[in-house]
Amino acid sequence: PGQGVDTLPSVLVPNVDAAPVTLKSGSFDLDNPVLPSWVEEKAFKSGGYPYDRPLKSDKYEEDLKALQVELVKLQHYVVTRKLKLVLIFEGRDSAGKGGAIFAFRQYLNPRSARDVALPKPSETEAGQWYFQRYIAELPTAGEIVTFDRSWYNRAGVEPVMGFCTPEEHKIFLKQAPRFEGMLVEAGTILLKFWLDIGQEMQLKRFHERRHNPLKIWKLSPMDYAALDKWDAYSAARDQMLEATHSGPAPWTVALANDKRRARLNIIRHVLGSVDYDGRDKTIVGKPDPLILGQGLSFLK
Ligand code: ADP
Ligand code: AMP
Ligand code: MLT
Repeated sequence: PGQGVDTLPSVLVPNVDAAPVTLKSGSFDLDNPVLPSWVEEKAFKSGGYPYDRPLKSDKYEEDLKALQVELVKLQHYVVTRKLKLVLIFEGRDSAGKGGAIFAFRQYLNPRSARDVALPKPSETEAGQWYFQRYIAELPTAGEIVTFDRSWYNRAGVEPVMGFCTPEEHKIFLKQAPRFEGMLVEAGTILLKFWLDIGQEMQLKRFHERRHNPLKIWKLSPMDYAALDKWDAYSAARDQMLEATHSGPAPWTVALANDKRRARLNIIRHVLGSVDYDGRDKTIVGKPDPLILGQGLSFLK
């Protein structure tokens, strides 16, 4: 859309008022079609991002294609060896979970690679044990399941937005490592990714969603509500990473201001985690230690 002109068809404009956000550098109004220059300037480096500019797109495409061939081999191995592979993608709104999952799944056979993105719990589900509806989505032998958000809603959006009680949050943080420990002990391969972005990058991405007619479908009421809850989400993230970074089910943290680097490194980590037939070590390589790390300590 042109600067200063809101080109959104009016039927697409959400009927929600955005809370103004005030940071040290200035104030931000999601509904204003002009993105403040300080948001644009600070977005890429926000949250202490270690690079100055995104990976070049040619390099990204080339590396991604080679890694996607490796993923096809990985899937063949999972199917023939009847393994069960679960990948959890977590992160704030607009962290890039959906795009990372798209890149991961792009050339996989969807018959044995499912993506799970559950809506908010129904009344029946809300009355069940919290993990129950997720258990129904876990893989059978030979399947890969990606979770675009997961049971970790109860460590993020739910406590921050008041969709669960503090007591339920506490019980969740205690049970999650035990639940995951049982899964892993019984043979499921579980990889958990936290995609981390800076605050100005989140504002930039929300703004892009709000004013681009092809992206507005991604903008949810939860995104509006997240605008002034940055600190509450940070605290919830820290608590979650601390309580649920267990031996059998550690968190891999990916700095995700640059979506391209985040995706490539996440895929490298997955490929490095399973010793599939025909693995090409020169292609898989090692994740970039500036982009990928383990647990909360990587962020602090
Ligand atoms: P996404 O970011 O995945 O596109 P949203 O931003 O709309 O989706 O919502 C974030 C998460 O919060 C989703 O997993 C959604 O199911 C969950 N959620 C939304 N409303 C509720 C609610 N009332 N109770 C519990 N969970 C909710
Ligand atoms: P998209 O993935 O196209 O929905 O991008 C959403 C927002 O992220 C937009 O504001 C883009 O400018 C920004 N963005 C997209 N790709 C990158 C990248 N590689 N690095 C940093 N920001 C990006
Ligand atoms: C993402 O982009 O991180 C998710 O897929 C969507 C969202 O954040 O709302």
